[in-house]
Amino acid sequence: MGRRKLAAGNWKMNGVKAALGEITALEAAHPAPDCDVLICPPATLVAAMADAAKVISVGGQDCHAAASGAHTGDIAAELLADAGASAVIVGHSERRADHGETDADVNAKAQAAWRAGLIAIICVGETEAQRDAGQALAVVGGQMAGSIPQGATGANTVIAYEPVWAIGTGKVPTLADIAQMHDHMRAVLGASHGAEADAVRFLYGGSVKPGNAAEIFAVSNVDGALVGGASLKAADFGGIVAAASEG
Ligand code: PGA
Repeated sequence: MGRRKLAAGNWKMNGVKAALGEITALEAAHPAPDCDVLICPPATLVAAMADAAKVISVGGQDCHAAASGAHTGDIAAELLADAGASAVIVGHSERRADHGETDADVNAKAQAAWRAGLIAIICVGETEAQRDAGQALAVVGGQMAGSIPQGATGANTVIAYEPVWAIGTGKVPTLADIAQMHDHMRAVLGASHGAEADAVRFLYGGSVKPGNAAEIFAVSNVDGALVGGASLKAADFGGIVAAASEG
């Protein structure tokens, strides 16, 4: 299946204007990567990054389900699109934990992303306790059923599997565990969305670094990565972009 790899960076609540220099450096080092490259900076940098970037796409980290209105501090997908974003992360585990977002909330946000013409990067992933209890596959399957709207296609949706216990910890599942989960996810999406599921890209996220990216990208049904800490510096993220370009 010819799914183009995606190296996606999630800067989380990091990055002032000076950090735009990382984009310039990344593009200088990788002017024509053989993969898609996306950076999701804080909302304050979306417009400036979209203006500065040539080959890198820019995304938001969250959106509100509504298109506009009295929602102080929130950002509509339409506003992200107007600022130059082409994608938005929805349902990151930090949003689910910090803001109590449910699968239904995430589902509504994904539909909001599509309404605005953005790719929805829908995040799922189990906690350490859930994995230890042997529930990882069931938990992720349930999150997928609740969070991914009907109408998901390879053009409008990316799914990111991010085990909560692997985010920012330096801990990574075994390659066999990643393969088992991504194969499971492909089957789950196939059952709910039919043949179109084959075109949807599945990212792995959680402590992806330049040193482990290539082996992760070689795993069955891994179509790229969603990268936090290692996306902040051009030198680190460049190594991940290079690995995605080879895979
Ligand atoms: P990390 O974060 O790469 O720093 O583990 C991944 C993420 O939360 O998307």
